[in-house]
Amino acid sequence: MTETTTAKQSCEAPLVPDKPYYEAHEIALYQADCLELLPQIPSDTFDMIFADPPYLLSNDGFTCHAGKMVSVNKGDWDRSQGVETDHEFVMEWLSACRRVMKKDATIWVSGTQHIIYSVGFAMQKLGFKLLNDIVWYKVNPPPNLSCRYFTHASEIVLWAAKSQKSKHVFNYEDMKATANEPFDLAGKQMKSIWAIRAPGKDEKTFGKHPTQKPLRLLNRIIRASTNPDALILDPFVGSGTTAISALLNHRRCVGIDAEQDFLQLAAMRLAEAGTNRTLNLEQ
Ligand SMILES: C[S@@+](CC[C@H](N)C(=O)[O-])C[C@H]1O[C@@H](n2cnc3c(N)ncnc32)[C@H](O)[C@@H]1O
Repeated sequence: MTETTTAKQSCEAPLVPDKPYYEAHEIALYQADCLELLPQIPSDTFDMIFADPPYLLSNDGFTCHAGKMVSVNKGDWDRSQGVETDHEFVMEWLSACRRVMKKDATIWVSGTQHIIYSVGFAMQKLGFKLLNDIVWYKVNPPPNLSCRYFTHASEIVLWAAKSQKSKHVFNYEDMKATANEPFDLAGKQMKSIWAIRAPGKDEKTFGKHPTQKPLRLLNRIIRASTNPDALILDPFVGSGTTAISALLNHRRCVGIDAEQDFLQLAAMRLAEAGTNRTLNLEQ
């Protein structure tokens, strides 16, 4: 067994030389640009990756929030640099992620029309095996203020294995036993369309992240594609949703984010989840 393929690598062991911003219960969060930190992690480390990258949709337009017209801008990290440069960025972080995946690992990437086609193309170019394109139906989307388009009510979550040869984990029976309302009753094969509401106030008690994912989405992803103790990576961890779901579901997790304010929010959420392990386990 080599140094890089130990059967159970604790994320409390120094996977990277940097000191984590937060570390407890086998969850470690790092403040860094993932393009700089990922190359420092040994190859073949993670069992699963969830990536919710910048959608690059901050174009000075407007959207609706709580009945009010607000800017769509999320932050400088979410500005498009043009189609070619954006695709180069996607290729760069996806290939850095692929290197640190174990041979049977899978990756999930969420996105809207702004980046998901670039991600799908990059996955094919880099040798991933596409497994599913999950349609996340956002049950309670904000209305479209321009009235010139359909209301945007979905995101795609691409699920792919490291290579054509990967023997990926899929907890089929667990998913079959789970009700996927309103599409599937418990006991029926689960379809690739999931209705999940945007996170409510109960998931934002410590503050807001502009693109926070619902805990239910991560619970389903983690339970579907990993076993207890699995080591998960989120290279764009934001407010820590992936890490919290990992903690609640008894998995280990390494999260990376460039912004300290978001990590501070993630740390507060994690501290609460650490003391209340029965917090939102719905999926
Ligand atoms: C779409 S958000 C992720 C939100 C997260 N899934 C959640 O539930 O809170 C993307 C995150 O990526 C971070 N980010 C952007 N570019 C980055 C980079 N190069 N390296 C690390 N983090 C980055 C941003 O600060 C932002 O928090």
